[in-house]
Amino acid sequence: MKRVYVLLGALSLVVFSTGTQVPAPIEEIQTAPSDTLDRPLRFLMVGLGQDMGRISDGIWHEDYEMVRLGAQSIADHPKITREEIAAIKIALGDQFPAFIGLDQVVHQTATQLAKASQERNMEDILRLQSQLTQNCSTCHTVFRTEVRKALY
Ligand code: HEC
Repeated sequence: MKRVYVLLGALSLVVFSTGTQVPAPIEEIQTAPSDTLDRPLRFLMVGLGQDMGRISDGIWHEDYEMVRLGAQSIADHPKITREEIAAIKIALGDQFPAFIGLDQVVHQTATQLAKASQERNMEDILRLQSQLTQNCSTCHTVFRTEVRKALY
């Protein structure tokens, strides 16, 4: 019995010393307020997030068709509405072409990823998945706050 206690003590030490990996408090998570769910850009983005999830699931299950469907759906994602694009253009000014450029890079990477999954090339799939994640996050880091201000 004593041994069990010692073991438990050691375990809780491990748990507490790795306690730095607490999830971020909810207000730090970049999710728009729930009353903006009807915003087309946000709706589109939630869909892209789900497609990225399908890509990861496909990788874990080695289901190449699932990876392809996720990537193709990103490559074919719907256009941002005219109203939102106009508001973003005004808000970003000189930076607007860079915003559009990042969207184009996402399309290109997603298209390459769909092709790699058709060819069942796991090495390329992993490289392109990571590239795609970076492409998405670059736009978020650089533009998300400003674009939100312009839309809400
Ligand atoms: C060209 C810029 C740009 C690119 C590229 C981009 N995003 Fe976004 N994303 C945004 C902006 C702006 C918002 C904030 C939208 C809002 O709050 O209405 C956002 C928000 C999000 C959100 C949060 C939605 C929510 O609930 O508030 C998710 C998830 C998301 N993007 C996923 C992705 C994924 C996945 C990709 C790549 C496949 C991607 N985005 C590529 C600009 C971009």
